[in-house]
Amino acid sequence: MHTQVGIVGAGPAGLMLSHLLHLQGIESVVIDKRSRTDIEETIKAGILEHGTVELLHQTGLGDRLTRDGSEHHGIYLRFNGRNHRIDLSGLTGGKTVTVYAQHEVLIDLIAKRLEDGGQVLFEVDDVAAEDLTGDSPTVRFTDADGTAQVLGCDFVAGCDGSRTYTRFLIPEGEVRKDYFHQYPFAWFGILAEAPPSSDELIYSRHERGFALISTRSPTVQRLYFQCDPADSVDNWSDDRIWDELHARVDGEDASIAEGRIFQKGILHFRSLVVEPMQYGRLYLAGDAAHTVPPTGAKGMNLAIADVVVLSRALDAFYESKSTEALDAYTSTVLRRVWRAQQFSYWMTSMLHRFPDANDFALRRQVAELEGVTGTAAGAAYVAENYVGLPFS
Ligand code: DHB
Repeated sequence: MHTQVGIVGAGPAGLMLSHLLHLQGIESVVIDKRSRTDIEETIKAGILEHGTVELLHQTGLGDRLTRDGSEHHGIYLRFNGRNHRIDLSGLTGGKTVTVYAQHEVLIDLIAKRLEDGGQVLFEVDDVAAEDLTGDSPTVRFTDADGTAQVLGCDFVAGCDGSRTYTRFLIPEGEVRKDYFHQYPFAWFGILAEAPPSSDELIYSRHERGFALISTRSPTVQRLYFQCDPADSVDNWSDDRIWDELHARVDGEDASIAEGRIFQKGILHFRSLVVEPMQYGRLYLAGDAAHTVPPTGAKGMNLAIADVVVLSRALDAFYESKSTEALDAYTSTVLRRVWRAQQFSYWMTSMLHRFPDANDFALRRQVAELEGVTGTAAGAAYVAENYVGLPFS
């Protein structure tokens, strides 16, 4: 088998890269260890930045998004028992975000790739990318039927998420450096059959810990609250979950609407950036190269932004044999990646309860939130970052 770009990983980065390359007339093959059902059913986050939504519409992926996505013009930061609205569209010249779950984007992308005759191979095993520093790398794998395959390519894209294999093909130390930050908490996430608790998302800072009120549809809600990373789902009965959410959110201008909980899980998170994001003919994109804490709602959007830049650089190579944009890939995307890291880290530290927080830290945190929500400059900083920075 031969293709132009061998793509390891059928998540947002890998599938979108394959889709964008196809629109530019460049062939690719996507492989993934997981089954199609697994990919299409795994629950992840759900906020699409303004630019991500535009890209989905412009590239023929807007049908279900238009029907099922829900556009939001603002978010609330909640503290001292009150909501403080950040007017996203008012502060960014009309930009918005859209609630549309990541697995729905993946369902749309897989359907589109297959409809366009693309090759997406699920349930592969024994993946090994080789000869990355030469002109014709290969990706070896065992396909779903158990047959050993050798895929010759011009380039390899490492889009295999936070449990990546491809990241480790960049030699650590002499070439690769990982920048890592661990947080002393996790999120407990639920899906519930319930009416919305709020017209817009609420990011709530409370002395008991952070809580986030999000939504999926008029009848399904997505709610999270900060928990201990060592905690277990079994410790949380439905009643205890609702009690905790009420305690952290309810007040004069907000109240949690309960319903049947049908999914519970604990999300562990951290910050990570890998530099450089390329090695020979291997290019990393998405979570394989960087992970953000979920508080800024940036994860999938960063993956999409990476592959927009990468697809343009590959296009320039095939159009004119120029490697200039490919050579600049890491430096081009890393500026945006670090800005998103900073925003996600900052939102996380401003809104969560740190286990070692003293009374000074708690008062200071409230003053920070007052400064952010009570000044035009502070609110504009949140809004600009939340709706998303330009792709490059
Ligand atoms: C959702 C997840 C996030 O991490 C976030 O910041 C906002 C919303 C969600 O799953 O809906």
